[in-house]
Amino acid sequence: MQILSLIAGCRNVAYNSLSAGKKKHREIENLAPHKRMEVKFVQSLAPPLIAAFVALSPLCDTPVSLGQTTADIQKGAILFSRSCIGCHDAGGNIIQPGATLFMEDLQRNGAATEEEIYRITYFGKGRMPGFGENCTPRGQCTFGPRLQDDEIKLLAEFVKSQADQGWPNNQIIQD
Ligand code: HEC
Repeated sequence: MQILSLIAGCRNVAYNSLSAGKKKHREIENLAPHKRMEVKFVQSLAPPLIAAFVALSPLCDTPVSLGQTTADIQKGAILFSRSCIGCHDAGGNIIQPGATLFMEDLQRNGAATEEEIYRITYFGKGRMPGFGENCTPRGQCTFGPRLQDDEIKLLAEFVKSQADQGWPNNQIIQD
């Protein structure tokens, strides 16, 4: 499904149309609140995105592909909702308010590149545990399941792209 590749010039438009998926949420209102949040986040991200890309692709004359497909974004979103959302719900930071995943904080903290986000996710930082398979020292690493290198790559791409967009799924996650 390479035709679904992200198109730089269309990203904002595509993300804005995420709200089109809102009515779906009613179907999952009966789930437990925690589960509901996860399901909503992942579910609401994928279908409208795909729909938006298919619909908008012909309008965009920017050459295709930043190397990140909607499938990658979806995988990143799923990984994020599994491993990161507990502390970084909607791109925030419940432990350290000055270290959110919004661009302003990322830049101030020298973490605004995909490489740096990868490194922090792999090795951890301060009170954030590292998730890499060879994360060291042990005390700095998660006691839970580790992530594969390619999963951390997807996460770094996802976080960076969300930060670039100002975490556009915010409302969907929270409402
Ligand atoms: C246990 C809570 C916790 C979890 C889980 C967690 N983080 Fe963090 N994260 C933090 C804390 C605390 C910081 C601030 C660390 C510091 O600057 O000392 C942070 C910082 C970051 C930063 C740098 C933000 C900035 O503005 O400096 C990134 C990027 C990040 N986390 C990504 C992730 C990703 C991706 C995941 C999931 C794999 C994740 N985090 C899971 C607590 C967590």
